[in-house]
Amino acid sequence: MSTDLFSPITMGDIKLANRMVMAPLTRNRADGHNAPHEINVTYYQQRATAGLIITEASQVSAEGVGYPGTPGIYSDKQVIGWKKVIDAVHAKGGRIFIQLWYCGRISHPDLLPENQTPVAPSAIQPEGEAVTLDGMKAYVMPRALKINEIADIVAQYKHAAEMAKQAGFDGIEVHAANGYLIDQFLRDGSNQRSDQYGGSVENRMHFLSDVLDAVIEVWPSNRVGVRLSPENSFNAMSDSNPREHFSYFVSQLNARNLAYLHVLEGDMMSKSASIDYRALRNHYNGLYMANNGYDKARADKSIHNGDSDLVAFGIPFLANPDLVARYQQNLVLNDADSSTFYGGTEQGYTDYPFFEQATTAEPA
Ligand code: PHB
Repeated sequence: MSTDLFSPITMGDIKLANRMVMAPLTRNRADGHNAPHEINVTYYQQRATAGLIITEASQVSAEGVGYPGTPGIYSDKQVIGWKKVIDAVHAKGGRIFIQLWYCGRISHPDLLPENQTPVAPSAIQPEGEAVTLDGMKAYVMPRALKINEIADIVAQYKHAAEMAKQAGFDGIEVHAANGYLIDQFLRDGSNQRSDQYGGSVENRMHFLSDVLDAVIEVWPSNRVGVRLSPENSFNAMSDSNPREHFSYFVSQLNARNLAYLHVLEGDMMSKSASIDYRALRNHYNGLYMANNGYDKARADKSIHNGDSDLVAFGIPFLANPDLVARYQQNLVLNDADSSTFYGGTEQGYTDYPFFEQATTAEPA
């Protein structure tokens, strides 16, 4: 039998039941302490048949926050909340990594301790608006990090990696995509530093390398994934030569022996791609996880052709807790309700029906 989406795969020292990954999805339903609670346990457990779950982006410190209601992984209360999520996923035979996040300039003083100004590699104000508790507010001019402040943030990633281990996660994903702090360093539209953290591609990768060095002191490298988004314009991002620059970043990651490289291919905004992702993938020796708008047919073809080893699905998993079974048996899918993506209650979160429920429910 040839390899398909449902074939098991060995990732480092763990075996995944299939190649369908639940992509990280911000849902803004943590409790008032930014800790996971009961509804989050139910939500993740419902989706435990994924070969791997990557949690929603979770800030490494209170300073890393960029949105209301997102979970963190820096306090004891958050560790206790996550432990319940992890135990519930493991009880169903699932595997779960946590995505580590620091938003940088994609934040707002209203969301930060002492109303501090968001930080970034360079003082470049992003276009767009932050989500605050008082509604949308324009992003502010961020403060460029002083070189001696960078080690503090790296230490926050290390602390979060320790807390993730304490909680019992199977591994961690370093979020280096989508316009958040690490990506702000990687791409030249947001990084105009003239010290060793900016300028050349080597220097722009310095911060990601520091973060990886730190978290790999806590976790074996084969339990650490990295997510990149070379040409995603979301969060006012740009780069002068994403193909060339990301070929360099990807080839530098080879030496790390990571669990996987996760790539958001193309642009979330225009839904188009200009880079040849097979060519990018060819720079990488380890497992490659593809993401961004894949459906079953495209994912199967990608795995079959060796364009990817794993495929991460976002919206399909959000709306179909039993997505694996539905794809395997060619069952019809639930539609996603975008009005309940961010924040709210069980509605649009834990009430998407499993196929059996959908088909055996009494007519209204
Ligand atoms: C979002 O909250 O819209 C969001 C968060 C993290 C991402 C992408 C989007 O990587």
